[in-house]
Amino acid sequence: MELKDKVAFITGGGGGIGEGMAQAFIEKDMRVVLADMDLLHAEEAAARLGDRAIPLAMDVTSLDSWATARETVLTRFGQVDILCNNAGISSERMPLDQFPPEAFAKVMAVNVTGVYNGIATFGAEMRERGGGHIVNTSSVNGLTPFGTFAAYSASKFAVLAMSDAVRQEMAPYGVGVSTLFPGLTRSRMSLDPKGGADKGKIDRAALEANMMQPIWLGRAVVRAIERNEPYIITHPDYRPALEARFRDILDAFGGPAQPGYKTGASATM
Ligand SMILES: NC(=O)c1ccc[n+]([C@@H]2O[C@H](COP(=O)([O-])OP(=O)(O)OC[C@H]3O[C@@H](n4cnc5c(N)ncnc54)[C@H](O)[C@@H]3O)[C@@H](O)[C@H]2O)c1
Repeated sequence: MELKDKVAFITGGGGGIGEGMAQAFIEKDMRVVLADMDLLHAEEAAARLGDRAIPLAMDVTSLDSWATARETVLTRFGQVDILCNNAGISSERMPLDQFPPEAFAKVMAVNVTGVYNGIATFGAEMRERGGGHIVNTSSVNGLTPFGTFAAYSASKFAVLAMSDAVRQEMAPYGVGVSTLFPGLTRSRMSLDPKGGADKGKIDRAALEANMMQPIWLGRAVVRAIERNEPYIITHPDYRPALEARFRDILDAFGGPAQPGYKTGASATM
């Protein structure tokens, strides 16, 4: 897809990875909407990015909020070409059986329902138009789950599942779908010690020094959209963990559990 003059709608655009995507899109002469629950952060990001960036207040968990945002953006720009479902929240690290139910529901509402809401709002018009691209932000935790981070990992696995399924649904209509799997990247979320890292167990100074800068994730997203690639993996250090996990899964395939079972009947289910 040629990106010049296209319009991107980026949730969680008020900083971090969303702002990195916005910056990379502007390098391609696009216009960007920075949609964020925190309007002040979106306004500050827009001020850094210049007049191709528009801040917008919205809550991704609310379909009404999506409808209002859609009206605003369509009135201003006519259409959204690139939808980046990027808003997300992290969580305290603790065993899942101690994780409070309200916190679990909130992680799912923002990280999973927020992505569904975005696709439900803009997907049909992309399909009818026969063009566009959706980028959903998962995480390395959406490929290899880590203990004490089960709710967040579950939400990010769900993002991958939705992305892969929607990519199949959208392919016949010329709409691309990509999933971004960031590792540790500099942002408010990753710099908040109660969020992405084990409190007290990790050398925060070393961790922060090694965080990737969001602009590089943004440029990787640009390349993936241009080439319609399904997966965007920016941090190769997680490859051994992923290889070990896939090896375990593939090793679990043996003969059928039921003697005489004829393979093929369950191809899609
Ligand atoms: N930074 C990392 O190391 C890292 C690693 C893997 C995945 N991620 C994912 O990247 C995405 C971006 O996170 P980030 O690291 O840039 O953090 P960030 O906290 O800077 O950005 C997230 C943004 O989402 C916004 N937001 C939260 N809830 C919202 C809601 N209900 N509606 C609208 N906006 C809402 C926040 O206000 C914030 O500006 C998230 O989905 C996160 O899970 C981040």
